Amino acid sequence: MNDLKIIETFPSDFVFGVATSSYQIEGNSYGGSGTCHWDDFAKTPGSVINKENGSIACAHYLKYKEDIALIADAVFSAYRFSFSWPRILPDGKGSINSKAISFYDNLLDEMLQKGLKPFGTLYHWDLPSIFGKNGGWKNRDTTKWFADYTDIVMRKFSDRLYSLATINEPWCVAWLSHYLGEHAPGEKNAASGVQTMHMILVAHAEALQVIRANNFNNAGIVLNKQFVSPHDETENSLLSAALSDEIHNLWFDEAIFKGRYPNQTLELFEPFMPQNYEKDLQLISQPIDWVGVNYYTRSIIKPDKANPFLGFSSTKGNLPTTDMGWEIYPQGLEYIVKRLHESYSKEVPIFITENGMANQDFIEDGIINDFSRIKYYYEHLKKVKNLVENDVPVKGYFAWSLLDNFEWAFGYKKRFGLVHVDFNTLKRTPKNSYYAFQKALNAR
Ligand code: FCB
Repeated sequence: MNDLKIIETFPSDFVFGVATSSYQIEGNSYGGSGTCHWDDFAKTPGSVINKENGSIACAHYLKYKEDIALIADAVFSAYRFSFSWPRILPDGKGSINSKAISFYDNLLDEMLQKGLKPFGTLYHWDLPSIFGKNGGWKNRDTTKWFADYTDIVMRKFSDRLYSLATINEPWCVAWLSHYLGEHAPGEKNAASGVQTMHMILVAHAEALQVIRANNFNNAGIVLNKQFVSPHDETENSLLSAALSDEIHNLWFDEAIFKGRYPNQTLELFEPFMPQNYEKDLQLISQPIDWVGVNYYTRSIIKPDKANPFLGFSSTKGNLPTTDMGWEIYPQGLEYIVKRLHESYSKEVPIFITENGMANQDFIEDGIINDFSRIKYYYEHLKKVKNLVENDVPVKGYFAWSLLDNFEWAFGYKKRFGLVHVDFNTLKRTPKNSYYAFQKALNAR
């Protein structure tokens, strides 16, 4: 069995949804939105394929009704989307863009009318340009402005949100963007990486305070997790893999659920940590109502003297890969969620907030036969099913993504959608994976 019939065997209250994010689909040239640091990053040669950006993207700002109808027609019960900070506050702070408020009002009303639970996210990487120019997330002031923006979202929309996440993927916001330099703002140094690893959790904490002050009680954070494998069984490889696992996964689990940072990494990071960081840990570890896990692949880690700071680097494995070059490793999802539950989150409900694959899809006679994507979903859902059966409190699963969209540094080259988008005409064409979900969800 590798169609999605497995969906029929999940508990009836298990949530199936799709996920997107504002910058990747909305098109920020519409509706008076401000720009974000991805617009600035895209202009730097070599940062984004073809210097593409999100100014048009899927023009979801104009086509949101069609997109919500696609979600509802596939019988999903939830939609994970994000608010765009620079759309709501074009200058990051100060005056509110009324068109943005109408847009999210209409979007939420449309979801509710179609019976979809709105799962909002406050920050999915579109940092208003102005903050990028002032040190971005390294600057503690940014976290205060983020709290102000959170308050606006709460006041305007909390009556209709089912749930709210503060930050999408703090590891990507911090390490991938400030140490590895692959995402905006493209910084490549240890000090920036380390400072942001802490400050993004301060931002989460500040936002959570505001969310609580607004009496909203279904808030969490979305962590991207990777299964880390050592390249071989030598002691050095094992130590390197353990350090990488701390930086990618445990840094956030320890801080959020235990109010501390893992030892080995802290020792390495200490020289660059913001002053008095310890004082923030209590707020960072205030209770959350649920935790989101985004999972795509594993990484293989080997010792590497060419990197004197970390002492390791990642290397390629030999499993089949997706169009991103990411190995397909469903076992990793089961392992990582089980560990999160047993060692950290305990009774806190877990949502798989993203999972999916990029594929080289092509249309033939109006049909997109993306059977490898269906197989990917099936194999990962099988692992989610095991978790549910073993009493791990996984309550929902979101496919990434509804639409082909702006895949960050890869521009429009990588297609993750259940629905194909022609970026010349903006025409949407459901792929066979969309129909596989629809069939299974209908039969539920
Ligand atoms: C995740 C991001 C999402 C998308 C997928 C492929 O890291 O949250 O926006 O790019 O990867």
